[in-house]
Amino acid sequence: MKKLKGGIIGTGMGRLHMDGYSKDRRVEIFAICDINRKEAEEFAKKYKASYVFTDYEKMLDVEEIDFVSIATPNYLHTRMVIAALKRGKHVLCEKPMAINLKDAQAMVEATKKAKKRLMVHMSMRFLPQFYLMKKLIDKDILGKIYYGKSSWIRRRGTPIIDFPSTGIMGRGDWFVQKEKSGGGALMDIGVHMYDLGWWLMGSPEVASVLGSMFAEVTPPRFEKRGIYANVDELSTVLVKFKNGANLFSEVSWDAHMEPGMSIQIFGDKAGIRWQDSCLTLFREEEGISTTTSIQLPSEDSLETSYHHFVSVILEADKKMIASGEECLEVIKVLDAIKESNQAKQSINFC
Ligand SMILES: NC(=O)c1ccc[n+]([C@@H]2O[C@H](COP(=O)([O-])OP(=O)(O)OC[C@H]3O[C@@H](n4cnc5c(N)ncnc54)[C@H](O)[C@@H]3O)[C@@H](O)[C@H]2O)c1
Repeated sequence: MKKLKGGIIGTGMGRLHMDGYSKDRRVEIFAICDINRKEAEEFAKKYKASYVFTDYEKMLDVEEIDFVSIATPNYLHTRMVIAALKRGKHVLCEKPMAINLKDAQAMVEATKKAKKRLMVHMSMRFLPQFYLMKKLIDKDILGKIYYGKSSWIRRRGTPIIDFPSTGIMGRGDWFVQKEKSGGGALMDIGVHMYDLGWWLMGSPEVASVLGSMFAEVTPPRFEKRGIYANVDELSTVLVKFKNGANLFSEVSWDAHMEPGMSIQIFGDKAGIRWQDSCLTLFREEEGISTTTSIQLPSEDSLETSYHHFVSVILEADKKMIASGEECLEVIKVLDAIKESNQAKQSINFC
């Protein structure tokens, strides 16, 4: 079988994309692009890519490239995705797909016009615990879902300050500049937590959004280091859905609080929770309340996000997890959180 040729833009998170594709025999890593030529060359050598570019437009001009993977600062996603689609490439774009709804809409329009695949890298959906939660929920184990809670609280987990500049992620100063990131913790990890809760609840239609954003702990830390920053470090949201269900979601880069991640989905037949690295099912069996720990599948036994993206390119009928069209709904809520925070009231979609 002829291998698909891929081009990867961005060598931070993008190096995980390269690693993912390198394990897929259906793919050849053909080109690497980064404005940091040294890094692009380093990874091209590691993954035996034929070409190195510092200008993504030039890389997109290469006709042989079938798909591109975009892992660049958030504000560049829209222009890069649209340029790639216009050149007839399939695209895997990092989260958040765009810094605002208008841009995300333009990306979805361009996808329809190009008749190509656009997947957003909601990578956490592919983690064993969330993959299994979704599978159990789809089997209707919970019954009617009426409430969800998702939370990711970090303590000293702010990009630039707490992540090494030599690391894979959280090293770019763009993370803390609203113009380039679209927001702080909200756009970085809030996008994952809201998306997971919403997806696990069956992607219900949004009725209203009451959101808040805070920057209380990090400003003096940025100031002390002479870093220009104008983003939130903590955000919360209560979303009401048209089916009557509610989702509460909160994230923080830095707080004087116990750090941790948890997702809880409440149904009328059972509830399921991921917390403290354990997946637990809460049920009532013959009038007795039971609590069961669920064994996770090994990561190796599951499809990776990269494998999934390649499969949806090759199999026209395969349903995509986290398509651009689906993730547009997530950006709609993120935009509404910002609007609600500013207006100090809820935003209604009814
Ligand atoms: N899915 C996940 O869990 C996950 C995790 C981390 C980051 N991300 C996302 O990945 C994206 C990149 O984040 P990161 O942590 O790698 O950031 P980063 O700043 O470490 O890396 C971005 C890379 O893009 C390059 N770049 C900037 N402008 C460019 C241009 N015009 N052309 C080509 N290359 C350019 C930079 O030189 C840098 O190497 C962001 O959207 C982020 O939200 C997703």
